[in-house]
Amino acid sequence: MSAQKRSILVTSALPYANGPLHLGHLLEQVQTDIWVRFQRSRGHECHYVCADDAHGTAIMLSAERQGITPEAQITRIHAEHSRDADDFLISFDNYYTTHSDENRHWCEYIYGKLRDGGHIVEREITQAFDPEKGLFLADRFIKGTCPRCHAPDQYGDNCEACGATYTPAELIDPVSALSGATPVEKQSRHFFLSLDKLEDMLREWIGSGTLQPAIANKLREWTDAGLQAWDISRDAPYFGFRIPGESDKYFYVWLDAPIGYMGSFQDYCDREGVAFDRFWRPGHDTELYHFIGKDIINFHGLFWPAMLHASGLRTPTGVFAHGFLTVNGTKMSKSRGTFINARSYLDHLDAEYLRYYFAAKLGGGVDDIDLNFEDFVQRVNSDLVGKVVNIASRCAGFLKKGHDNWLTDDCAEPALLDEFIAAGEQIAARYEEREFGKAMRDVVALADRANQYIDHHKPWVLARDPANAAEVQAVCSMGINLFRVIMVYLKPVLPAMAARAENFLNASLDWPELDQPLLGHQLRAFTPLMTRVDPTAVDALLAAGREAEPAADSGGQEKQDATRDSKRAKDGKAGKAKEKPGQAPDPNALADTISIDDFMRVDLRVARIQRAERVEGADKLLRLSLDLGELGEREVLSGIRAAYDPAALEGRLAVVVANLAPRKMRFGTSEGMVLAAGPGGEEIFLLSVDSGAIPGQRVT
Ligand code: MSP
Ligand code: ZN
Repeated sequence: MSAQKRSILVTSALPYANGPLHLGHLLEQVQTDIWVRFQRSRGHECHYVCADDAHGTAIMLSAERQGITPEAQITRIHAEHSRDADDFLISFDNYYTTHSDENRHWCEYIYGKLRDGGHIVEREITQAFDPEKGLFLADRFIKGTCPRCHAPDQYGDNCEACGATYTPAELIDPVSALSGATPVEKQSRHFFLSLDKLEDMLREWIGSGTLQPAIANKLREWTDAGLQAWDISRDAPYFGFRIPGESDKYFYVWLDAPIGYMGSFQDYCDREGVAFDRFWRPGHDTELYHFIGKDIINFHGLFWPAMLHASGLRTPTGVFAHGFLTVNGTKMSKSRGTFINARSYLDHLDAEYLRYYFAAKLGGGVDDIDLNFEDFVQRVNSDLVGKVVNIASRCAGFLKKGHDNWLTDDCAEPALLDEFIAAGEQIAARYEEREFGKAMRDVVALADRANQYIDHHKPWVLARDPANAAEVQAVCSMGINLFRVIMVYLKPVLPAMAARAENFLNASLDWPELDQPLLGHQLRAFTPLMTRVDPTAVDALLAAGREAEPAADSGGQEKQDATRDSKRAKDGKAGKAKEKPGQAPDPNALADTISIDDFMRVDLRVARIQRAERVEGADKLLRLSLDLGELGEREVLSGIRAAYDPAALEGRLAVVVANLAPRKMRFGTSEGMVLAAGPGGEEIFLLSVDSGAIPGQRVT
């Protein structure tokens, strides 16, 4: 490999410091880490920094709720995030915080440049203000009754019940979600970043091929619609950096967050003696890449390059956006137990399983990625254990037995080995383009070839006759060398398994050594490289998720101040507990209360009864086929036969418990429960839903 040595700085987006990392965050960190490890394995200089995003109203309020200082909260979360990332083998060179001196320095520097360049304007704005809390209220902190459908308790600027969008001022009876007080209008002076003079620069940047085409198109839509000045200040009280020269104004968290990349890198450079300026001043032959989710492209694709450019700093070489993680086909949801924290995953399963699975599913675009647990078990067990590890394990025994772990001096089939080595160029190109899924397919195809080679020569048959010892050694040495090449390709994805393989092979697995086969070389003892995924561990993980307390809505909300694009479903909405049918009216039970958290665990949904039919041999049951919208179709067996003519039910909307564990009954499996009232027999009344509701909608 002769390519020139590159100098690269890479970042992942900074997770908010007010909740645990979940598998969505890990999708991003794993994607970035694989790319970084790939670059390092190719021999390039590649620094990888990240940090916690520690500022903002959400963090201030969450600390207040816990009765601790924001500093105490961000310190605790920082320790948790660092540990989670470590255990997922994320190879950060520095995991810092935006609440740092280095970050403050660069914020003040950039702000100073923006002001001197005439890019900062001041405007008086009117905002909703909570007179009790003494806080200006962002849209998401105001709730009230929907002006269109009159659904109560709707947040901010859109109604979850009917989908209407509006301004918080249009809400009927608006109240502060923080105190319940009626908001008043109040004026305040804000600082804005004006993009007027930066429009040409931004157009050029968007058209420069730096961004993924889908992202460039989206940003072009925004610039074509005319760029509004961006509000970069917030009034006290706020947890953040005070704006120089102001006593009660702070930088908006989204101003100091991307600058946090610089702050983290500065801290690292100071410690490690790396030259900071080479990576942030223009005119150096270095590269800068940001890995982010598609929800934050406006910040990274518009404001951030504008800020950098206007401050005389370099702009990124690339901004790589990825899609969102869904679990078993739907948005991660606390009530379905599919909102999986990094730590809960690690409590049950090996980090490398997920690293491989993500790699196998990731492409260079912004498509969402689904973590389907059946597919997960199948792929890891079949590709990694069944194919890759298998190559080494089937050869190792024979080499140990007759040959004291020595490999032959010559390669039995040089042409085949050359083919494996030559495949590296395409695999490297795929890694470079973040087409990890394609790279994994190439690797698995090689593993198939290697297994075919071994199957063809059948060392286990040859070994029956001692006269074949040399041939057995030749075949198995060849197998081991093919395995070695495959492991070079997998090392960025599976660093721990690669370390075990390096130990066994007694050789390092990096790209520069790719074309140096192990000949006349002694292996170390073979130890298991990876064990199969135990499907019961997956079940335990999902069960733990269903039992877990729904965590406080973590972070994220700050984004909506500037983007109205991403509607965040609110999992934590209040509702009233309902009696379920079929339960004996035990007076004590009636007096029992359950917590709101208990109630929130019941996933009540609107369902359309598509078909209803009698069940042969069961005189109480009807079999209902339900359409649950985004949750798909379900079959439910319901004891309402005496009360309803099946035909009369078809097309009706009902309420179902969607997260009831499926129950095997004599007449089939029931995948949920339809809610009804009444003593039984003919007197059962299905709870009905007005026709405006949509199947799959949450019932609260
Ligand atoms: N703090 C901001 C980022 C500031 S960067 C200067 C933020 N934090 S976040 O915690 O909400 O998200 C951190 C990263 O995780 C973002 O890139 C976000 O897109 C990503 N993800 C959060 N949930 C995700 C999924 N469900 N799936 C994939 N990525 C997700 O945004
Ligand atoms: Zn509405």
